[in-house]
Amino acid sequence: MAASKHELIERNVGLLIVLTLVVVAIGGLVEIVPLFFQHSTTEPVEGVKPYEPLQLVGRDIYVREGCYNCHSQMIRPFRAETERYGHYSVAGEFVYDRPFQWGSKRTGPDLARVGGRYSDEWHRVHLINPRDVVPESNMPAFAFLERPVDAATVEQHMRALTVVGVPYTEEQMKGAAASLKGKTEMDALIAYLQGLGTAIKRVN
Ligand code: HEC
Repeated sequence: MAASKHELIERNVGLLIVLTLVVVAIGGLVEIVPLFFQHSTTEPVEGVKPYEPLQLVGRDIYVREGCYNCHSQMIRPFRAETERYGHYSVAGEFVYDRPFQWGSKRTGPDLARVGGRYSDEWHRVHLINPRDVVPESNMPAFAFLERPVDAATVEQHMRALTVVGVPYTEEQMKGAAASLKGKTEMDALIAYLQGLGTAIKRVN
């Protein structure tokens, strides 16, 4: 009896495919579903706060300019990485990152804990022309970011994020556009960079 059922499945390609998919799906769900409920992946680690409006705009510029094509934001728990970049990344640091910018391409250094490593002025000079501070750098120049930020959509952006659980208050959202007055895209990008990874103290 058992042998004939097996034969039935092996001879019927359609059935075999469906049953294979069911088995793979169970395996996948067992791995993925708990992540939606585990506190270590759903709750922010102490000190992680939702992005300020200026940082949020800066984050959009980071994505728009494709910084992730050369920079990861994920320190792996290996000695070589933690000695260079600081404490390895933990899931609770990224709960307000939608989508996260982990990446895997490291033409340049990992930026997960670059916040506070340099002064704002260093970043400005570096972004205007990386070769002025690191002569051998092949990072593109981003001098054109010295232009006003577009504040028109920031409130809607924050509202959209509240739908997926980012706890912005009504007051923060209403005041967001005004808080961007006079700021440049460069200011926004630097504010974003300076916040990266600062909730967990650098070890080195
Ligand atoms: C073509 C690849 C490339 C792109 C694109 C790129 N970078 Fe870089 N970046 C590098 C390289 C290489 C370095 C190391 C040399 C240097 O400091 O300039 C670097 C260094 C940095 C550093 C200093 C990190 C440290 O720990 O010393 C920061 C900050 C940085 N990049 C930010 C950015 C931002 C923000 C963007 C997008 C606006 C960006 N990069 C786009 C290649 C790139």
